[in-house]
Amino acid sequence: MQDKNLKILVVGSGGREHTLAKVCHQSPLVDQVMVAPGNAGIAQEFNTLALDVADNQKLVELAKVNSVDLVVVGPEVPLCNGAVDALNDVGILAYGPDKAGAQLEGSKAYTKDFLAKYKIPTADYGNFTEIAPALEYLAACNLPVVVKASGLAAGKGVLICLSLEEAEDAVKDMLSGDSFGDSGKEVVIEEFLEGEETSLHLVCSGESYVSMPMSQDHKKVGEGDSGLNTGGMGAYAPTKLVTEDMLKSYEKSIVRPTLAGLKSEGVNFRGTLYIGLMLTSKGPKVLEFNVRFGDPETQVILPLLEDDLVPLLLTSARGESMPNRVKFKEASSMVVVLTSAGYPEAYPKNEPISIRQPLPEGSEVIFAGVGENENGEIVSAGGRVLGAVGTGATLQDAKEKAYALSEQIEFESKYLRKDIGHREFSRA
Ligand code: AMP
Ligand code: GLY
Repeated sequence: MQDKNLKILVVGSGGREHTLAKVCHQSPLVDQVMVAPGNAGIAQEFNTLALDVADNQKLVELAKVNSVDLVVVGPEVPLCNGAVDALNDVGILAYGPDKAGAQLEGSKAYTKDFLAKYKIPTADYGNFTEIAPALEYLAACNLPVVVKASGLAAGKGVLICLSLEEAEDAVKDMLSGDSFGDSGKEVVIEEFLEGEETSLHLVCSGESYVSMPMSQDHKKVGEGDSGLNTGGMGAYAPTKLVTEDMLKSYEKSIVRPTLAGLKSEGVNFRGTLYIGLMLTSKGPKVLEFNVRFGDPETQVILPLLEDDLVPLLLTSARGESMPNRVKFKEASSMVVVLTSAGYPEAYPKNEPISIRQPLPEGSEVIFAGVGENENGEIVSAGGRVLGAVGTGATLQDAKEKAYALSEQIEFESKYLRKDIGHREFSRA
């Protein structure tokens, strides 16, 4: 098949999917981009189709009815639910790992055993399904200690416990099914790691891969990285934290053993592998794997791509060898996430959003948690409402654009962190 006039269906409804749709749409190979289900902001720019992303049969039907050439699955839930397997079973090309590959995100207990088996550096841990042995293990742990629900928990299943009592309560609440339902019926108890976090995104096809620029998210809700954990309050790329030489050493100690290990386990991993790293005094350690692009990291990584993204997605989806390298712009990108005040706890919704035009050059609005009211106005509908993205020659330029744009966007409970990139700016 010659790749032209392609129809691409992006699955998901957040900022990541808005960015994926925009970048796919820029490809000369692509004729049409649809998003399912998308959101009211994405719908201003792309055709959106109703979909419950956990419904594989409906997804297959949508792809068939719309003669889609490539489905790009954004979020982890459909990946862990076998969306790619269901599409591939009927001959539809799909970007993302199959259900077996998606276990790297769907089960933290599986991942920890995998990392230990293949001697990939990570925090010391124990996996438990029963309360008594978990409490016994905890009693011998240093504080703080980290307690994680093994299954998917929308980024909320990790608790850093400062006291033994807090850790014991977390373990009991999880294993009883009270706090995270089935996702908490197995827990990982883990050594607390200190260091700076960064993430590496790879587009993989079995053991071949291309690396994207390293990025840094800001997970805490408050300035100076204080307060509760969120899905991500802002990000930038690239980061000087990781030099070319460091990246090469991570490829040797982490990336290649991971992909080779997956192959030994019978998993031909295709799609995005997101490696969350903690750079500790004893070297880099894997905090987590995600099997999809990060949100909001995607919003800053993809604008830096000089080459066309779509051939990379197609090569991965087909299981062919990835190119040796990919070109990136000599530029930096920053996203500032505008949230509803109160998030990640309760927050108001349905507030009309106004965006003053024209947008600063080199900036773009990425819609995430938005809906539409009865007057057809775009309103806030989620905690992370939208992203203000700036791209420029330097991170300072990118920051100025992103923050200038964030001032042109108004809704009543708008909240944002003013210090995105603070670690990078404090580096020599
Ligand atoms: P995870 O989903 O496993 O990456 O955890 C979410 C966040 O919790 C990470 O981005 C870290 O900020 C924090 N975290 C997870 N595991 C650890 C650990 N072992 N030590 C310190 N912080 C951790
Ligand atoms: N920003 C973190 C994630 O996508 O999991």
